Amino acid sequence: MQKHHTRASVLNMQMDPDMKFRVSEAYKTARTNLSFSLVKSECKKIVFTSPLSGEGKSTTSVNMAITLAQQVNTKVLLIDCDLRKPKVNRFFNLQSSPGLTNYLGGMKNMESIIRQTDDPNLSLITSGVIVPNPSELLSSDGMKRLVREMESKYDYIIFDTPPVNVVTDALALAGLTDGYVIVVKEGSTLKPELLRAVTSLEHAKVKILGIILNGSKIEEKEDYKYRYERYE
Ligand SMILES: Nc1ncnc2c1ncn2[C@@H]1O[C@H](COP(=O)(O)OP(=O)(O)O)[C@@H](O)[C@H]1O
Ligand SMILES: [Mg+2]
Repeated sequence: MQKHHTRASVLNMQMDPDMKFRVSEAYKTARTNLSFSLVKSECKKIVFTSPLSGEGKSTTSVNMAITLAQQVNTKVLLIDCDLRKPKVNRFFNLQSSPGLTNYLGGMKNMESIIRQTDDPNLSLITSGVIVPNPSELLSSDGMKRLVREMESKYDYIIFDTPPVNVVTDALALAGLTDGYVIVVKEGSTLKPELLRAVTSLEHAKVKILGIILNGSKIEEKEDYKYRYERYE
């Protein structure tokens, strides 16, 4: 494992304390729902995808990984499987390479692509060098070996992936993981696109764990604000 430490910039970022509280409470609620939906798995392997790009898959998977890792004795590994438009590394101020493709292409060994973040519970695999055959690499034996090895070390493995209505990469992880979370963006994701994504996931026979509504303004309504304040 690489020694240098890196800090995620999402839940740690500067925002007004009230907003920060509401964002972190929303992620904690999603965390509870996720842990209850997979009670049987020793290592919960969860894919985050969405119909199209820009809907918040990377933002949500990074925030979920951070939120899961806040629990005592909960080891989390976040893997950037968007090998086309890698993003996770940016949240941690890292280059994307060396990462997953360097290992899958045989240039790096497994241990050398795992990076430790500032949070001792959270490790990270960035996407690696850009390659011409992302889907093939994600379905390779090397990927199976990686997941098999990592599931004995982590309580959660979170996979960030490309949009499922655009490329099939996310579906390559179907047989290796426990379930999928679909991220949709309020005011942006259209119903036919969501239905198309659900249909693709159903055809791949994966378990759909739930839908996360990203960018929702609902918490800003007065009644919600009041409820949250009462519990502070
Ligand atoms: N809830 C949100 N509030 C504000 N900006 C957001 C939110 N979710 C995502 N973004 C921004 O939208 C852009 C796309 O998000 P990203 O997570 O990269 O989407 P995807 O991985 O689905 O392509 C990024 O610039 C990100 O910072
Ligand atoms: Mg992304």
